[in-house]
Amino acid sequence: MNRKYLNRLSKFAIVAAVISITACKEEGGMAPEYMPDMYRSPSIETYVDFGELRGNYSDTNYTNKMTARQPVSGTIPRGFVPYGYENTPEGYELAGQNLKNPIAYNDKVAADGKELYGMFCVHCHGKTGQGDGTLVERDKFPPIPTKFVEGLALTEGKMFHTITYGKGLMGSHSSQLNKEERWKLVHYIRTAFMKEVVVQDTNVAVVDIIEEVITEVVEEAPVVEEHGH
Ligand code: HEC
Repeated sequence: MNRKYLNRLSKFAIVAAVISITACKEEGGMAPEYMPDMYRSPSIETYVDFGELRGNYSDTNYTNKMTARQPVSGTIPRGFVPYGYENTPEGYELAGQNLKNPIAYNDKVAADGKELYGMFCVHCHGKTGQGDGTLVERDKFPPIPTKFVEGLALTEGKMFHTITYGKGLMGSHSSQLNKEERWKLVHYIRTAFMKEVVVQDTNVAVVDIIEEVITEVVEEAPVVEEHGH
């Protein structure tokens, strides 16, 4: 190795050392950005907030520039019917008094309810509704205080409220199940385990909920004037 080469190598080492030392000096552990466009793309990004990097808001000029926006507070999606009972003991009691299953009962509803129960509920509440689900039997979940037994002490509204918000150790299922599915489950639990006798309704099920949505859409639709030919 000749001297000249060593000399160059040591200069390079010094430069590298300086860079690596200064690189860590910035507050919050953030290094100065080399070619910031590579980190904060100038193109439109839907979900990226370029003012934020790993939880640090370094450059407020870029903050909150993402294109996906929070909806204005109080807005609801089209066709969505808000649930008017609060997640409180009073809301639970009120829902229990006022809410009635809007879905007519028939074989299809029963079958759908059974299927949903098998997907979302059976691992806790068990095949017989006695709280003997596999999670409980394998000691992965504490015993379930609710047993779906014969007798209909638990009202439909309370059940719907619980599936919507959850109760005690049971979590909310409103993100997985729409209202129609929740009411089908209520039907299923009441007929299969609580032995409710329901008159079969051979008309189309789901009437009320769907009708509610349709009337809203119709009311909102602009009036188109008909022109005679
Ligand atoms: C992770 C376990 C778990 C799952 C999954 C689960 N539950 Fe529950 N459920 C519970 C527990 C625990 C309670 C008792 C809550 C309490 O009173 O503290 C309960 C209570 C209930 C009650 C009684 C509510 C009341 O008002 O007393 C109903 C009805 C119910 N569950 C329905 C369902 C339905 C329908 C599903 C499926 C969509 C489901 N649960 C899924 C654990 C679960």
